[in-house]
Amino acid sequence: MKKALQAPKIQIGVCYYPEHWPEEMWEDDFKRMRELGFSIVRMAEFAWSIFEPEEGSFSFAFFDRVLDFAHKHGLKVVLGTPTATPPAWLTHKYPEVLNVSQDGVQFQHGQRRHYNYNAPIYRELSARIVRQMAEHYQNHPAVIGWQIDNELNCEVNVFYSEADHKAFRAWLQNKYGTLEQLNKAWGTVFWSQTYTDWEQVHLTRPTVSDSPNPHQALDEKRFFSDSAISFAAMQAEILRKIVSHHWVTTNGIFGHLDYHKLTDGHLDFIAYDSYPNFSTIYPDKGEKPLLDRKWSWNLSNVRSISPTFAVFEQQSGPGGWVNRMEQPSPKPGQMRLWSYQSIAHGADMVLYFRWRTATVGTEIYWHGINDYHNRSNRRIEEVRKIGNEIHNIGGKIAGSRFKAEAAILKDYDNEWDGELDHWHGPFEQESISAWVKAFQYNHIPVDAFYVQPTTTVEELLKYKLLIYPHPTILTEKTAELLKEYVQQGGKLVFGARTGYKNKDGHCYMLPMPGHVLDLCGISVEDFTFVGPLQEAPAVIMADEEKTEFAAVRFNEVLKLESDQAAVLAVYKTSYFAEKPALVKHPYGNGCTYYYGGVFTLPIAERLIKEIGLAQPIGWVALPEQVELAVREQINGRQYIFLLNYSDTNQEIQINGERKELLTGKKLKGKITMEPFGVFIFESDRA
Ligand code: GAL
Repeated sequence: MKKALQAPKIQIGVCYYPEHWPEEMWEDDFKRMRELGFSIVRMAEFAWSIFEPEEGSFSFAFFDRVLDFAHKHGLKVVLGTPTATPPAWLTHKYPEVLNVSQDGVQFQHGQRRHYNYNAPIYRELSARIVRQMAEHYQNHPAVIGWQIDNELNCEVNVFYSEADHKAFRAWLQNKYGTLEQLNKAWGTVFWSQTYTDWEQVHLTRPTVSDSPNPHQALDEKRFFSDSAISFAAMQAEILRKIVSHHWVTTNGIFGHLDYHKLTDGHLDFIAYDSYPNFSTIYPDKGEKPLLDRKWSWNLSNVRSISPTFAVFEQQSGPGGWVNRMEQPSPKPGQMRLWSYQSIAHGADMVLYFRWRTATVGTEIYWHGINDYHNRSNRRIEEVRKIGNEIHNIGGKIAGSRFKAEAAILKDYDNEWDGELDHWHGPFEQESISAWVKAFQYNHIPVDAFYVQPTTTVEELLKYKLLIYPHPTILTEKTAELLKEYVQQGGKLVFGARTGYKNKDGHCYMLPMPGHVLDLCGISVEDFTFVGPLQEAPAVIMADEEKTEFAAVRFNEVLKLESDQAAVLAVYKTSYFAEKPALVKHPYGNGCTYYYGGVFTLPIAERLIKEIGLAQPIGWVALPEQVELAVREQINGRQYIFLLNYSDTNQEIQINGERKELLTGKKLKGKITMEPFGVFIFESDRA
């Protein structure tokens, strides 16, 4: 069972840093929060130097006053453990706690997250501050839950201090037992890299051409993840013992961290920080970019960890650090739209970041709801509207689960291996982006699903269709699981570079796609990538329409290995013209589709049509600009979210009369959605 946020109603609130403001402002702030409909305040995650101004001397008077005021005004509090910001006295006295870059530069006091997870003294001092806080606040009536640290692995997700090299050695000894096994797993026979003493073994260090041993690089990422997990687990254990009546979570999600393992093992649910306007500096590539709508996919990833979750930071203004201009201001209506984007995807708690823009420090441009001047503004009024709406409908929707008939499969090994291995890594993101767009523009809700050692066929069978774009590392065990899924009726799509590596990242001495060759009914006869100066060959569908696509990035020439394999498309140009590029293969009660390339939007859309998956809500016709999302209660009650991401009116067509929850109106026929508009319909399962 996945760990999920359990809440009787959707709650909204805000992140608040009382240490940034004169005490005289606190009560007024809390009062105004309540007026906006907030019930939760998140605080204290960066306040170590207030709780422990000197080593071993603890002071709670400041936050006692804050919490008492919060309680007086009926607000509940989420407390952060402050380990993301070690105080100056700590790093000055114990410099071994500092993180070090791969080329040996030690990060210093003056920013945050400059520590490492493995220095024993940092673990000790972190354990002590967490214990002190938990003991002090265990009975405070305002406190409901705890956030461990803040955004583990954000800003920097690699660690090369002495403590990390040492801990890596111990981690490897535990994993491999002997140096002989380690040498085998890392293929050190290649280029005379063989280790003869454990002291010679390190995390990757600067190498010629910036190209470390790839098997070592993969293990390193697994180690970074395990280090973060054990650091969080250490805190979670302390909290569980002392504040077992509160929930425990952390906010993510960032690289080199297996959040599924972390959450399943140690948290009550996961929380996420949602800044959809990052899409302006990290736009999705290819045609018809999703922009802020891409955040729906991020939220799908969060949902794969916890079906219902919290958003601890919901964008509430323009953003950037002093040295970075990152996020334009949300346009009128966008904060509301993004709040419902979070809720549509499973958030049952949404906290805005932050109450008021800081007037000092790195984040003086990361804007809160309130501006420096503290007068009213349009963002406050927008939040007030959301507060009223959530007050009315939050009880109905909370606890319902997002409903999808399709999922895109992912796994951490391929994600981490693909960072160094450019022969598959970059394809993953491109193909996922193409599929997400195809599902979005065709109004088909989609889940992210992480394949894990514990994954069962029952979990997969919840979906009619699975897309596993480029699972290069594919073990026999996973291949068996996928075969079982298809055998029992599932439909499964693969792209190029599937199945040629084992768990250590060694290439199998098998025809590709390795252990799923018989499942797919093809082998890869020949392959090439499309060079930067080459034109992508065309692929032509075998049906009457004879649609053509560009086979971008990578071309695998497929060879049929089964009598039942059906060629859906062939290459039209290049030396492999007329050879299969896309093959369908029936297997048991289901079938597979193997495409020897990197997916693009037109190919993904064509495959959706071929497979016959359609928009699940038949009574509404929607333009491309509008997202459809469905949440469903156990009793079958559905909440159908329509989200207009465009800044123009959009026409939708409703067949039959339907009740819209936000306006309370019954709607039918041709209806206009305003720019950034949101509708939520309540309906029984079709
Ligand atoms: C988040 C972080 C916040 C704040 C915000 C704006 O990543 O958790 O503390 O820094 O970004 O930069």
